[in-house]
Amino acid sequence: MTSSAKSPRTLHVITHGCQMNVYDSARMTDLLRPLGYRVVNAPEGADMVILNTCHIRERAEEKVFSQLGRLRKMKEGQGGAMMIAVTGCVAQAEGEVLARRAPFVDLVVGPQAYHRLPELIAAAHRRQGVVIDTDFPAEQKFDHLPDDAAPQGVVSFLSIQEGCDKFCSFCVVPYTRGAEASRPAAGVIAEARRMVAQGAREIALLGQNVNAYHGEGPDGGEWSLARLLYALAEIEGLERLRYTTSHPNEMTEDLIAAHGDNPKLMPFLHLPVQSGSDKILGAMNRKHKADEFRRIVEALRAVRPDIALSSDFIVGHPGETEEDFAATMRLVEETGFALAYSFKYSPRPGTPAAALPQIEEAVKDARLQQLQALLRAQQAAFNAALVGRETPVLFTGPGRHAGQSAGRSLWLQPVVVEHQANLTGTIGRVKITRANPNSLAGQIVSKEQIAA
Ligand code: 5AD
Ligand code: SF4
Repeated sequence: MTSSAKSPRTLHVITHGCQMNVYDSARMTDLLRPLGYRVVNAPEGADMVILNTCHIRERAEEKVFSQLGRLRKMKEGQGGAMMIAVTGCVAQAEGEVLARRAPFVDLVVGPQAYHRLPELIAAAHRRQGVVIDTDFPAEQKFDHLPDDAAPQGVVSFLSIQEGCDKFCSFCVVPYTRGAEASRPAAGVIAEARRMVAQGAREIALLGQNVNAYHGEGPDGGEWSLARLLYALAEIEGLERLRYTTSHPNEMTEDLIAAHGDNPKLMPFLHLPVQSGSDKILGAMNRKHKADEFRRIVEALRAVRPDIALSSDFIVGHPGETEEDFAATMRLVEETGFALAYSFKYSPRPGTPAAALPQIEEAVKDARLQQLQALLRAQQAAFNAALVGRETPVLFTGPGRHAGQSAGRSLWLQPVVVEHQANLTGTIGRVKITRANPNSLAGQIVSKEQIAA
């Protein structure tokens, strides 16, 4: 008997950058699976390799070109039998440059065009030369999500918003991800239900500007993120909700209030502030002052005293003086962060700040070191404060060593316990016994099994 199934082909996906890219990589895999592609975990010998790229800082972009160099050698070793697709923000921003600098690439696809991947692959098979699709189509890419997505696990990510209209002076996102767009609430709720049916207990809502969410509600009106979070909290079996990444100017009253009265919303918020200097915040086009950030933090702590904060910082933005940097250090000292990411300003082509006189590298290095030392100390203090306390942990899978289970705390810290039985998908009470720089260790006090 002859089979009409598509011939099996292998696919390897390499993902750089943010959670949004991780989510997109999974969606692309979902799209290609019905075409007969099976995922393999190394690029060697693969029929197709997708390099899903990040353009946020210079280093991220350099990584793409060095990785492409390695893929080229592999492709040559396979007599050319490897289709290479570059996707993500480097594809969007540098499509033409990529086609010139890396002509062995078959496909260049921007984030707005992933749903066309199957046709683009067919076109690349027919054609010599690079197929490029970096259009910003008028229709929403959310309309084209495959509905047979592979399960992500106990912690699942769900994209609800794309793009950014904020145009911070340093940032390429508005250029690579396009204008803000929100996915209708009904589709989000349906996907969340499916994720929970597949074993998700925690869902993190994703968007470049997720708290600017304003999706069409099932009632025809517009839903805010807070409204959506209340609706999602009603899904039985879903225990935890998070959302990332947010902008201070979109921390509306209803969203702050939700942190107080939506018990499934976790007491942890990633809220990038970038700088503590009003002058630099102005130069960055952030459209708020440092005190407004302070007030948001205060309001959040008033409704949810155990809320932990995380943030992003940039040092050495054009115009940043010692005084401006000192203001950032002050803001960090006053606020106290559980976690934070900090970067040296990296000029991105086409963004306003790239055209300004730049701060010397050595100055940026020194400021980054100083800031990171403070942030590291705050993170260590936050972790250490949990030692001796009991706290709920959502178990996500086995630990690295035999006999261990791993999970995460309310505040996103990885937690490891010595426990033989499979706890995956359950929440247990754990007494924290040790704090490491980036994780915690503990002992199970009680297993509060969640009904499967
Ligand atoms: N240089 C340095 N850091 C940047 N970020 C965004 N653009 C740049 C840049 N040009 C940082 C910001 C943002 C995080 C995702 O990356 O802090 O919040
Ligand atoms: Fe970039 Fe600013 Fe938009 Fe965040 S809010 S994605 S930093 S432009």
